[in-house]
Amino acid sequence: MKNVQYAVVWRRLATVLAVAVLTLSLIAAITGILLAFYYEPTAGGAYESLRLINTEVTNGWLIQNLHSVAGNGLIVISLIQIVVMFLGERFRSSWLTAWISGILLTLTAIALGWTAMILSWSQLGYWRFKIELETIQAIPLIGPALREILTGGSVSTVTVEHLYTLHSYLLAIGAVLLAVIHLVSLLFQEKEAKQADVGSTNLDAELS
Ligand code: HEM
Repeated sequence: MKNVQYAVVWRRLATVLAVAVLTLSLIAAITGILLAFYYEPTAGGAYESLRLINTEVTNGWLIQNLHSVAGNGLIVISLIQIVVMFLGERFRSSWLTAWISGILLTLTAIALGWTAMILSWSQLGYWRFKIELETIQAIPLIGPALREILTGGSVSTVTVEHLYTLHSYLLAIGAVLLAVIHLVSLLFQEKEAKQADVGSTNLDAELS
């Protein structure tokens, strides 16, 4: 009986967190699109455009902060979700779909945070990116090619454009899609569990 109650708690918590994850993804995507109206993806220009968004554009600071909070919040909540789903494990196909989409979403959220590092063209982002590029380059076989794809040669405007494209098209669309798949599979799991509960109640009634 106690195990059944725990299972319901974990299941519900996972569904609530999936709603939070989709909400955060949508907030990040919408505020990202709003930032794109004024953001300039060039070396130097990126820093200046973000400064203008923060100081001159009406509610620009709010949009930028919302984007940052939603983007970083997505990483935190999706990491917590992996633990919650692990504790409430149920080896059904809907659970497995939610588990796999949850892990892929967490990796995508981390990649979104990582690609944003150079988008601000700040001192901290620039030097952190340079250091991390050395690590990427050291990966056997694919390292140098990966560095070339990310930077387009040296760290310059082309690099900002490459990472901006990855961030705002590929990864952002991927994150929203994964968040939808994740929530739908958890809602499906709720439905399956409810049907199983009704089935066992009917069986109890027939036996008594
Ligand atoms: C699911 C969608 C998205 C997520 C989760 C996401 C996440 C993030 C994160 C974590 C940051 C770093 C913020 C910080 O730490 O200050 C960031 C920055 C940024 N993102 Fe996104 N993003 C998304 C979509 C987009 C889209 C669609 C665009 C543009 C079309 C965009 C443009 C930017 C820009 C310009 C920055 C740099 C702003 C800054 O450094 O303050 N993002 N994003």
